[in-house]
Amino acid sequence: MRTNQPQTICLSDYKVPAYLVDQVDLRFELFEDGARVHSVLSVRRNPESSAGDEPLYLHGDSLVLESVALNGTPLAAGDFDDLGDALVVSSVPEAFELQVVTWIEPQNNTRLEGLYKSSGMFCTQCEAEGFRCITFYPDRPDVMARFRTRIEADRDAYPVLLSNGNPVAKGDLEGGRHYVTWEDPFPKPAYLFALVAGDLVEKKDTFTTCSGRSIDLRMYVEPRNAQKCDFALDALKRSMRWDEDVYGREYDLDIFMIVAVDDFNMGAMENKGLNIFNSSCVLASQETATDAAFQRIEAIVAHEYFHNWSGNRVTCRDWFQLSLKEGFTVFRDAQFSADMGSPTVKRIEDATLLRTAQFAEDAGPMAHPVRPASYMEISNFYTLTIYEKGAEVVRMIHNLLGESLFRQGSDLYFQRHDGQAVTTDDFVRAMEDASGRDLSQFRLWYEQAGTPALTVTDEFDEERCVYRLTVSQSVPDTPGQTGKKPQHIPFAVGLLGRDGQPLPLLFSAGSDDAPVDRVLELTEREHCFEFHGVSERPVPSLLRGFSAPVRVHYPWTREQLLFLMSHDPDGFNRWDAGQRLAVDVIQSLIVAPEAEVEPRLVDAYRSLLRNTGLDQALVAKMLQLPSEAYLIELSEQADVAAIHRAREAVLSHLATHLRDELLACYHRNSAQGDYQLTPESVARRSLRNTALGWLLHIGDQQGLVLAQEQLRSADNMTDRLGALRALVNSDFVEERTQALEGFYQAFREDPQVVELWFSVQAASVRAGQLPQITQLLEHEAFDWKNPNKVRSVIGAFASQNLAAFHNPDGSGYAFLATQVCRLDDSNPQIASRLVTPLTRWRKFAPEYRVLMKSALERVRDKDRLSGDVYEVVHKSLA
Ligand code: ARG
Ligand code: ZN
Repeated sequence: MRTNQPQTICLSDYKVPAYLVDQVDLRFELFEDGARVHSVLSVRRNPESSAGDEPLYLHGDSLVLESVALNGTPLAAGDFDDLGDALVVSSVPEAFELQVVTWIEPQNNTRLEGLYKSSGMFCTQCEAEGFRCITFYPDRPDVMARFRTRIEADRDAYPVLLSNGNPVAKGDLEGGRHYVTWEDPFPKPAYLFALVAGDLVEKKDTFTTCSGRSIDLRMYVEPRNAQKCDFALDALKRSMRWDEDVYGREYDLDIFMIVAVDDFNMGAMENKGLNIFNSSCVLASQETATDAAFQRIEAIVAHEYFHNWSGNRVTCRDWFQLSLKEGFTVFRDAQFSADMGSPTVKRIEDATLLRTAQFAEDAGPMAHPVRPASYMEISNFYTLTIYEKGAEVVRMIHNLLGESLFRQGSDLYFQRHDGQAVTTDDFVRAMEDASGRDLSQFRLWYEQAGTPALTVTDEFDEERCVYRLTVSQSVPDTPGQTGKKPQHIPFAVGLLGRDGQPLPLLFSAGSDDAPVDRVLELTEREHCFEFHGVSERPVPSLLRGFSAPVRVHYPWTREQLLFLMSHDPDGFNRWDAGQRLAVDVIQSLIVAPEAEVEPRLVDAYRSLLRNTGLDQALVAKMLQLPSEAYLIELSEQADVAAIHRAREAVLSHLATHLRDELLACYHRNSAQGDYQLTPESVARRSLRNTALGWLLHIGDQQGLVLAQEQLRSADNMTDRLGALRALVNSDFVEERTQALEGFYQAFREDPQVVELWFSVQAASVRAGQLPQITQLLEHEAFDWKNPNKVRSVIGAFASQNLAAFHNPDGSGYAFLATQVCRLDDSNPQIASRLVTPLTRWRKFAPEYRVLMKSALERVRDKDRLSGDVYEVVHKSLA
């Protein structure tokens, strides 16, 4: 069990391990009432450790120790200490074998860390520190060993027995049992260990690598999911090919396996040769998965596959380096998704997530650098900062070095560190060594938390034909970090002339060959850039393609934003200009609720709706109004009710004035033939569903008819759910109740669709008020032990249904506190993630703040609070 006050672990205390493990032999006896784990470790003293004859220290968690022997001789009670969270053997020889037998209870493991059961199958999750819940082990990523794993279980109940590497032996045992032995030739840290045992169907495919080796691809799922594997297997093959083509990375084992499990704390896990996925991140069919789900699955399959090199072959020295593998791998999967679909849309989606959620994290009480300096519970550091900001940092290196030098840097990194556990600094050094660039100031991106803010001003000197941009940067204070240094920021810009033409960017008068796009490198607190030969005041296009994860402040006029919205050749900035304009209009309604909605916004949206010439995927994105969460993030003392009201008012105004255009857009994008996942078809469905949502938002009768018809006749989940969502978010109370009921009856057997059904309601201000949320928790399909269900009701309510969650009476906060306390006893990782919205209390207007804080204090005062929630709650109240 967790102690009450978790220890703080510091990067500065890092020491190389005193002992190394060369070989691990595991034997699992799996039973219904528990599992016995026999482990044989070949251990030797680390020649690089200065630790003298330090005792051997093995981590353990929730283990019953049955026996321990050294070189075959059982140890007497005085020769070792079972400390509960560790096994310490005091005097050991230079090299030896340690035999340990432990007893664990997977069937009672509700934390879903280590070995546990999910819908009747055994499975594991060992990252970051789950292996210590299986057996005593030096559970740190810089201890890398070869694993041999024998699994024994009942043959009928568990015909499929899987672990990492290649199967090397199998056979029958007495009493209807059988075994399979697996051997993984690649030394790996324990967090990459995996085991699966169950009654699963196997889907097979093959892939021929660039050197001509044939790889067996296998997917293992419960029989009811057999029809939902094709998309993931295809995505896997695309990923394998892409990693060869773009990074020169070939797969290394003869077999690659994917398993889907229903109960999983995270999205998926890159265990060597045996990736384990949350069902919702891998299973899909046209009838049950939305376009967004297909895209997410493709990205996650790729992400886990890419980890085979960026994570497994080269892994992290310690958990402070987590972004070494996660940031780089997210960058790689983003490049892959961009190549598979629409690069601009992918960039918009990533920037939206970053600006909405990562900026909020970076400005909140848990703000931490991409390479943190300390933590209490490492599970709390699987964050947007480590993943998404970490990926942006790698992207900036890519942009600074250019495609070809970046590839040389990554080749050098993989070659130099293959088989090693290394640091983010090693990564940057490989990039420096390959490119000859000095990235010393750039390293601050790994060390300083907080989102840098750029303030831009401009001047136009008509006489000299000089346009001057002055850019100053500041990095805000974050908990434990003040007085920060300026960072190295790639700032991509362009200038547009009055006619919308891009202007050449000349740094000095008279130079020719001027590009129309430049990446300015900011390194000082303030820079001044002069552009020559400019004959009229241009409109600046700043931070093109979101070239750095920063905020940009520039006094845009609405005129300029409208201009950029229709003229910027940079698709990302076109979208961004639209967002900035919409934010500005909504914000002015927050201040003056009775004010008129900017008529030019209506015109701009009208021309978007009519514009069939522009990339429809971009149009579909441009039509999305900024979310409430983003509007909150942008405000100082958020008044959620006012933000909600203003945003809804703008939406109603737009929908009312653009009714004909919305109907035309709806019909133009209907009749599509076969379901396809091309960016064009995805955009069509998105446009159509947006139009439908807007029409129902204003209670349009014709919209109602269209929605009901679409719900009935849709041949795919995107359209079906689009119609359901539009109805749920409308005031047609009877119709939406009927629609919800019909949808549930049609899909009640499918957990992933039921999760969508839950979240559509929980995220809706109309259908997801607290009494309705409470009812959903009582629903037959709700399951406290299943993280997806918890997220689809409680998570969706607290992070997407903001007006209901922030009910001024504080009921939403009290509700969340109660659920967090309840979940803390069974699954601390989930509890700790769920509490996040409350930790942002300082962001809100005083009347909200007080109530949020007191809900947080209730969580703090709970009995036997887990280390996970302890860290988050204490840091956010500090
Ligand atoms: N490495 C996994 C991935 O990003 C995530 C593992 C998360 N584990 C955790 N305990 N939070 O692909
Ligand atoms: Zn990852």
